[in-house]
Amino acid sequence: MTKPSKEPLQALKGMEDILPQSVRSWQGLEAKLRQVFESWGFEEIRTPVVEPIELFKRSIGEETDIVAKEMFEFKDRGERHLALRPEMTASVVRAVIEHRLSEGKKNFGLYYWGSMYRAERPQKGRKREFYQAGCEFFGESCPEHDVLLLTLLSEAFTAIGLTQYQLKINHLGTEAERATYLKTLKTYLEDNRKSLSEDSLRRLETNMLRVFDSKVPQDVVVTQKAPRLLDSLGEKSRQDLESVQKKLKGLSIPFIVEPRIVRGLDYYTGLVFEVTHPALGAQDAIGAGGRYDSLVQTLGGPALGASGFALGIERLLLSLEGEGRRSETKEKFVYFGSLSGDYFDKLHELRRQAASAGIRTEADYLQVSLKKHLGNASKREARLSVILGESEMGKGVVLVKDMASGEQREVPFDKLTETLKATLNV
Ligand code: HAM
Repeated sequence: MTKPSKEPLQALKGMEDILPQSVRSWQGLEAKLRQVFESWGFEEIRTPVVEPIELFKRSIGEETDIVAKEMFEFKDRGERHLALRPEMTASVVRAVIEHRLSEGKKNFGLYYWGSMYRAERPQKGRKREFYQAGCEFFGESCPEHDVLLLTLLSEAFTAIGLTQYQLKINHLGTEAERATYLKTLKTYLEDNRKSLSEDSLRRLETNMLRVFDSKVPQDVVVTQKAPRLLDSLGEKSRQDLESVQKKLKGLSIPFIVEPRIVRGLDYYTGLVFEVTHPALGAQDAIGAGGRYDSLVQTLGGPALGASGFALGIERLLLSLEGEGRRSETKEKFVYFGSLSGDYFDKLHELRRQAASAGIRTEADYLQVSLKKHLGNASKREARLSVILGESEMGKGVVLVKDMASGEQREVPFDKLTETLKATLNV
């Protein structure tokens, strides 16, 4: 047998247990988001946490921070090179192609909820294991579909009660427009080499647009004066961006156009966006996404337009807290206690009836003191207590106590479930 360890084991850095007292707010959030996504016709998809590393290299891009520095990658026993998913868009696209989900459909939406993995330096709102809820929409590439996703995003925030966020949109243009722009940008950045940070100099060689992501003050000075991608857009891209703006205004969805939004993943084309929240500090993006019209083909599928977004769940919860929104409190439940081991069978049977009617129940089977039962029930914040003692047993009733008002009454065994349901409104 293994010897007991003196050093208790701990969860890995940046990976956190979600304890029962927090799980309720997670569940509340998940239920509300699901409801919004489902009511807009999106269907859930679940994909494996582990994928061939090639999937992320080919979609997110080898030179991106996510792939170059942040993936949890390993070889399995069969020497296959694998990675824990750092995001889910790539996996969803893989699944759409693998299972021919687009066949016979003009357009369709998928949503997901799951854990993602990035080996970043942990800090507030930045974890190595974190959760995302996301939506991906496949179909024609048009401003109407961009607006559909932005509406869904705004509906999601309304459903969870978040108000102080800011939606920032930008347009990355077509591949050709981007290529022309990158030449201009390269000349400008080369001319300002001396003022750039080490990191930005590296990005200049590998992933130039990401220089705009830098928060280092010396880089910000340079990028603020840099030529803007927005100014290099062709007629069609410009019109699409205008059309999105007009439609958002018509829907009263507040936004700003932010030319600095470039996104850290290579697959984006066209409209991109980020949502930030002031409660978060340095890691202030609560969600992000955009159009990625070439990815399905890049990964071997048909020509199929696509766009989507993902929300960071930990950051949504921090933002809700920052807005002073109380997370869900413990659900109402009934505490069951018997005053003798002899009544256990009856009490257990009554509890089983209540539980199978959907009532949440708790109990302490080994306790037989009335005072301790009631103390227990009130410490756990029970809404009602059901107590079975000798005199109740004789009369075929239980004592039901309202833990808030202190009021108590006798309820016959066969009326208990119905009485509990009515009182709890279940
Ligand atoms: P992303 O910007 O990499 O995009 O991540 C989306 C959101 O996930 C972020 O805005 C943030 O809220 C959350 N997030 C990212 N990294 C962390 C972390 N280390 N800790 C906590 N939260 C984090 C994507 O993942 C794209 N797949 C979004 C998308 C979907 N684009 C099109 N469809």
